Amino acid sequence: MSLSGKSRRRASHTAGQLQQRRVQFDWSQTPLHWLPQQPFTSHFINEINLLLPAGEFWFCKLYNQALPLVQDAKLREDVQGFIRQEAMHARAHDGAIAEYLGAHGVETESYIRRVSWLFEVALADAPFGRKVPRIAQRQWLVFRLGLIAAIEHMTCVLGKYALDNKRWDELGADPVLLDLIRWHGAEEVEHRSVAFDLYRHLGGSYPTRYYLMTITFPVVFGLWVAGAAHLMRQDPLLAGKRPSALRPWIWLEWQRQSKTGLLPSLPWLFKEELRYLNPWYHPENEASTEQALAYLDNSPAARKMAA
Ligand SMILES: [Fe+2]
Ligand SMILES: [Fe+2]
Repeated sequence: MSLSGKSRRRASHTAGQLQQRRVQFDWSQTPLHWLPQQPFTSHFINEINLLLPAGEFWFCKLYNQALPLVQDAKLREDVQGFIRQEAMHARAHDGAIAEYLGAHGVETESYIRRVSWLFEVALADAPFGRKVPRIAQRQWLVFRLGLIAAIEHMTCVLGKYALDNKRWDELGADPVLLDLIRWHGAEEVEHRSVAFDLYRHLGGSYPTRYYLMTITFPVVFGLWVAGAAHLMRQDPLLAGKRPSALRPWIWLEWQRQSKTGLLPSLPWLFKEELRYLNPWYHPENEASTEQALAYLDNSPAARKMAA
């Protein structure tokens, strides 16, 4: 075995080549309560349309900066494939905001503005408008790549959950919304190793990984619940509960809904996050690429464009 062959395997743990699957969703028939009689879960999951695009475009921007630093040819290909997939995810969710939530009269801008501030101001190349000294620029980049690796562990866990959940099908979920979630979730499973491989390749350490997860988990789920509350406050069926991330109702209702298999529970998600802290963790062992590819081969939105 050649030395380059060995180093290639060490840097990349992604099987095959990541391809961008172009997708098209027809939102004209999707009801706001896409899970019939389940307004809470419908809004809770619709929230991802608001939260994800800003983060995913930020991933793409940082990965384009990191690309020239990658020394391994296969990992470079993985990163390029990752960028193409994440860009398509962000565009698909942006489409859902405009053509689906917007068509139902849902206001999303004020929440998206807050999320965008996090990525475009606090986590920008010049955070809060302050230029990072040249000597610290690589560290600032690797720190943010570590945040992405921690987030990508969550997206892999959630992607696998979406592929495994049968309850949504039993309750007659809208097929277009379900396909959006599962197509995205399956690609998260497929590219689950890229962010972690890149972070390690550029020198990301275990202790940093540890504290990045302890920051990322509460921030992501705090933002998620805040966004879900933003949607629920606009629904006359739920507005009376005065949904807010700062009040207990939404957190308790989330746990109640999770008992019926409609949502993953907070304790379960916390348990899934703990594995990321294991020194021997690698995303490769987290989910099944075969399961993801089996879904992607049959995803109606992906097949429509491939035809
Ligand atoms: Fe994504
Ligand atoms: Fe991802």
